[in-house]
Amino acid sequence: MLKIILVYFIICTSFVFSQENIPNLLGPYIQNMSDRDARICWSTYLTSVKVTDSEGKISYLPEYEQHSIELTRLNANSMYEYDIFNNGNENGKGKFITYPNEINNFNFVVLGDTRSNPDIHSQIVNGVIDTNPLFVVNTGDLVSNGRNIHDWIKFFEINKELMRNTPYYAVLGNHEKDSPYFYDFFPPPGANNYYSFSVGDALFIILDSEGKNLSAPNYLTDEYEDTFWEESFIEYFQNQKDWLNKELNLHKDAGFVFVFQHQPLYSIKESRIEDTNKRREFWGDFFEKHDVQFFINGHDHHYHHAEKNGVNYITTAGGGAPLYDTDIPQAETKKYSKVNHFISVNIEREKAVLNVIDIDGNIIDKIEAERRKTE
Ligand SMILES: [Fe+2]
Repeated sequence: MLKIILVYFIICTSFVFSQENIPNLLGPYIQNMSDRDARICWSTYLTSVKVTDSEGKISYLPEYEQHSIELTRLNANSMYEYDIFNNGNENGKGKFITYPNEINNFNFVVLGDTRSNPDIHSQIVNGVIDTNPLFVVNTGDLVSNGRNIHDWIKFFEINKELMRNTPYYAVLGNHEKDSPYFYDFFPPPGANNYYSFSVGDALFIILDSEGKNLSAPNYLTDEYEDTFWEESFIEYFQNQKDWLNKELNLHKDAGFVFVFQHQPLYSIKESRIEDTNKRREFWGDFFEKHDVQFFINGHDHHYHHAEKNGVNYITTAGGGAPLYDTDIPQAETKKYSKVNHFISVNIEREKAVLNVIDIDGNIIDKIEAERRKTE
């Protein structure tokens, strides 16, 4: 049992939280799913720290204890039910299906930037549940402020029914702020923030576009601040790229390859186009050479699909954050929409089909890619 006591004294200045708002339980939820293993996680309330600011405003900051239990030697493609309390309390119950260990049809969901608006986030989650996904990938910025425990409490409240029955992969976004809470709730399976998993012969890669948690010192001029950021991160990102190169070479026979990271390689938001140009310079034709079919991101709060030489670059960040205008379509742009949405992906024998579904349940775009190899 993993026991991590969370004690981070982050003061939320915009809300006053009474102790009544604090739930006793976060979860349960499912991590590290495979065709034979799974991990059930949950957090229980311990106590609250009371903080009073200079104007007498009081905040209560709850401390949670994190629990997890590993399930091993499971059968592939099989349903299991669990009950973390073993006392009949419905709040502790859930179920899941292990991944198939052979080529099989399945569907999963990708969504992103679920922060800021709980009502929209809830509607999107209800739409996701209706598609009955095998698992869910969130492309990052799950919450507005990853260092605020109350944001995480709200996140788990909205996702309770989904996450108790569905493995949930969290890509690190900038709003997570490299927070210890993120790593306590969603610990990566290995030593790095980047990792892979597979379902049948479909390969899924989770990347970290955020790098180390650094702050540029205030005394740096603008000129040196740019250098500070570039030089601080280059080694980290190069190591990640080298790892991915090896990983994709090892999985040359994968039928489908999906790569996820928070920050996109193509933007249609004017103020972010320069950043994406730099990112494309860094990656070059890497994804084309490795025959990656889908590179899926968040960060820009709308839907955008670009395509270049067989690689689909997709931004899905319509889970609840304030929507952005779609300023400047790029030469590679195929479709875009300023809309709250998620993507339901069907993996079939011959092809992958992505249905982009808006908050009202309408399919607003459909993307297909053929299996990379023939059986
Ligand atoms: Fe972001």
